[in-house]
Amino acid sequence: MRTIKDADISGKRVLIRVDFNVPMSEEGKITDDNRIQAALPTIQYVLQNGGKLILMSHMGRPKGKRSEKYSLLPIANHLSTILGREVKMAEDCIGPGVEKMVDQLNQGDILMLENVRFYPEEEKNDAAFARALASIGEIYVNDAFGTAHRAHASTAGVADYLPSYAGFLLENEVNMLRQVMELPQSPRMAILGGAKVKDKLGLIRNLLDKMDVLLLGGSMACTFLKAKGFNIGKSLCEDELMDEARKLMELAEEKGKKILLPSDAVVVSEFKADAAFEQVSVQQILDDQMIVDIGSSTVERFGKAIAEACTIIWNGPLGVYEFKNFARGTNEVAHAVARSNAVSVIGGGDTAAAFHTLGIEKEVTHISTGGGATLEFLEGMELPGVKSCEV
Ligand code: 3PG
Repeated sequence: MRTIKDADISGKRVLIRVDFNVPMSEEGKITDDNRIQAALPTIQYVLQNGGKLILMSHMGRPKGKRSEKYSLLPIANHLSTILGREVKMAEDCIGPGVEKMVDQLNQGDILMLENVRFYPEEEKNDAAFARALASIGEIYVNDAFGTAHRAHASTAGVADYLPSYAGFLLENEVNMLRQVMELPQSPRMAILGGAKVKDKLGLIRNLLDKMDVLLLGGSMACTFLKAKGFNIGKSLCEDELMDEARKLMELAEEKGKKILLPSDAVVVSEFKADAAFEQVSVQQILDDQMIVDIGSSTVERFGKAIAEACTIIWNGPLGVYEFKNFARGTNEVAHAVARSNAVSVIGGGDTAAAFHTLGIEKEVTHISTGGGATLEFLEGMELPGVKSCEV
């Protein structure tokens, strides 16, 4: 990859695509600023090297329409507090008003453009829109790993019109994920959770090639349990994918790989945060019960396998993480990963949140800022945002 270190940025307008799509509360407060913190090395580098910094990002999914709810103004204010310097906010991301603000920038100034997804052309990767964005900068830096799986105007199209480079965050994410997929030491382990098998079929197949052991939790494990003949009651299940799940388990056996499924589970009769729950073996689940977390003997079995692993990749929570009572399995497995000596890479979203909430984020090798982007990378797909910076 061409990286920002290859660029001569002094005095230049440096247009950086960041992913500042951070979680916000109903009152518009940032509840997790890890993505902003992770972009600071690139931002500081541009400032220290005399660039004129222009940041662009999306926020949420405003469907091509301007909406105050999705304005980047609170993010600009937050960044200004972190950096202890002014961050100017543009009312738009293209157009004469923006051009005027850009003309007035001095070296070391920072300008944040308004949400690029206020234009439907962004997600369509419209060439005229990409050209309009590109005209704002002289150099393009992509540091938005979290959005690198999207072929949008600001993540990919702009690179057709400007010299393009990877920022430190993007470079680091790609290096870490490549490294963990390619390290030769065994056993190599992937931990997969979250809701849908459908979204992860390609991923599981690719991981069965590269990894030795797969630990499955979350509601995606239910489809595999049912395919093995267990009664999973009214747990979420993708019945249409049971054949596929069976094939994947056969494939694992053929390849001499292991897929470990939960052996016990926390079950409820009603899906709510304060539902009464009990822990049962997967052989004992009743018709009116549903699985909401892995049980303690599964945590123990998974923990033993984790202690032996040399490399670990983890994506997706192992239970209904948003309900405190059912986050226990994810949290305990997170502790096991933190205790292990393996090279460990954690995907974004709830899995990353678990490590930050438990205060053990420094105990793993790398926590990614990307959820969907990490999944697609691990699936072996080419990410348009990464491609745009490749030599
Ligand atoms: C994310 O949070 O996964 C990224 O910011 C991408 O957002 P998107 O799924 O709306 O494209």
